[in-house]
Amino acid sequence: MTDTPTRILRDQHVNILRIASILEEVLATEPEPGAFDYDAVGDCVSFIRLYADALHHGKEEDLLFPELEARGMSRQAGPIAVMLYEHEQGRAFAKAMADALEPARAGDADAQARLRHAGLGYVDLIRAHIGKEDNILFQMADQLIDAPGCRTLCQAYEGVCQRRFDGCTVAELEGILASLTQRYPDA
Ligand SMILES: [Fe+2]
Repeated sequence: MTDTPTRILRDQHVNILRIASILEEVLATEPEPGAFDYDAVGDCVSFIRLYADALHHGKEEDLLFPELEARGMSRQAGPIAVMLYEHEQGRAFAKAMADALEPARAGDADAQARLRHAGLGYVDLIRAHIGKEDNILFQMADQLIDAPGCRTLCQAYEGVCQRRFDGCTVAELEGILASLTQRYPDA
């Protein structure tokens, strides 16, 4: 099978889009006003912070983007600049969710509104962001990076995947997604 420099990142996008759909469903499922499934929201926030951001965006920012810069792409303008800006926006939404979670669970209506707003904002952002990466930036990367560069990148990605993120292995984070998928099979 021919590999590409972006295959592992594209595979991770599938998991991140799955968590976005689950988060959207969780925030739409409100048996009484403000009575979200807070454990599920908390799991989504953990997955977003550790897997989507620390692991996945980390690999893009530390490995893929510098490789693209070395091959002539600008960091200050164009697709990489846009992706970096959107990563920051995603972090802000994730922080807003994390900050609102416990007060919302305790019944604070303002925090519940902030949680919903930040969660749905994240869902919209990450869907558009991943669409741009898959269809624009990663297409460019697959053209720009040759086979040796591709092998080096994939090995480096695999190395990052061996790490722990806030004490969690990647397999444990994927386990969080699997159990959320069981609880929200229609998302
Ligand atoms: Fe990505």
